[in-house]
Amino acid sequence: MKKYNIAIVGATGLVGRTFLKILDEYQFPINQLTLYASPKSVGKKILFQNQEYEIKALDENAFENVDIALFSAGAKVSKEFAPLAAEKGAYVIDNSSAWRMDENCALVVPEVNIEDAFTKSAIIANPNCSTIQSVVPLKALSDQFGIKKIVYTTYQAVSGSGKKGIDDLERGLQHLKNEFYPYDISQTCIPEIDEFLDNGYTKEEMKMINETKKILHLDNVPISATCIRVPVKNCHGVVIAVELAKQFTLDEVRDAFAKQKGIVLYDDVKKHIYPHSIVANNQDQIFVGRIREDLANKNGILLYCVADNVRKGAASNAIQIAMALIEKI
Ligand SMILES: NC(=O)c1ccc[n+]([C@@H]2O[C@H](COP(=O)([O-])OP(=O)(O)OC[C@H]3O[C@@H](n4cnc5c(N)ncnc54)[C@H](OP(=O)(O)O)[C@@H]3O)[C@@H](O)[C@H]2O)c1
Repeated sequence: MKKYNIAIVGATGLVGRTFLKILDEYQFPINQLTLYASPKSVGKKILFQNQEYEIKALDENAFENVDIALFSAGAKVSKEFAPLAAEKGAYVIDNSSAWRMDENCALVVPEVNIEDAFTKSAIIANPNCSTIQSVVPLKALSDQFGIKKIVYTTYQAVSGSGKKGIDDLERGLQHLKNEFYPYDISQTCIPEIDEFLDNGYTKEEMKMINETKKILHLDNVPISATCIRVPVKNCHGVVIAVELAKQFTLDEVRDAFAKQKGIVLYDDVKKHIYPHSIVANNQDQIFVGRIREDLANKNGILLYCVADNVRKGAASNAIQIAMALIEKI
């Protein structure tokens, strides 16, 4: 079996370490592994499959003979270094927001639009974590019934902010002062994720709106979103209110979800079976439940989906793209 040279940028971070865990779990065929992080980590060692790897400096000499570079070190690093990796012949799969809305770059969730990955530039963008877990159930609905309108409300875990978010939750739980979020996240929900824009939405909310349109090729469907940070360590929840183009029965909707790759239909409320963070933690599947008619919208459905934002919302989705790429290259 052919093996590939893999680089990870941001290897010491929450997503970077999860890349390593998933490469191992998926038994990704690796020939050579190169790890990059910020200057403060250069020289540190990370253990992977019983071998120590030293963190290397990210500079113009990086990415020699790399086949696939997985980036998770923020948008600034991706803007600067993803083109260098691509110039040197690597495919880049980028977890930041840097390239997502670039029309030359594909924005990919494998269960939804893997074909886009093979039609554009060598830089492939991984969507925002809340978008990834939302577009998979929406794909099932879009294919079968058509979609006329989407309204998102998210309940996002602190791990979505990386190590800084988890540390702030821990601080709050120990009655220490918050350093990262504007309020003590252990005691409150915060309706502010990323910066506020002039239209009153946050960047996170606009990412969900714009990325959903791009991935599902639904340019003309109206979408709105409210994103809320909640005192949960891991796994995001999203309530999706969706208006369908056709009439439906709930059985037909459940059937559509049951057939959709990447989803676990988790919906038996009498037995307290519905998606929640504990059940989705450390999983790659998206849990979908609380499916019901929207009493306020004709042809409307309400559902709740929960997924592990560090795995399916970031690292697993990127490595699933990489798995699809190596079948082609
Ligand atoms: N957490 C999530 O659920 C999630 C989901 C989707 C997307 N993402 C995206 O993934 C990226 C990383 O998130 P994270 O949660 O893993 O954050 P994190 O835990 O804070 O890790 C950040 C990583 O970036 C590295 N880094 C920072 N500045 C750098 C520089 N100048 N050069 C090279 N490396 C640098 C850090 O290295 P040091 O350790 O040396 O500082 C660390 O490895 C972000 O773009 C984020 O938006 C995260």
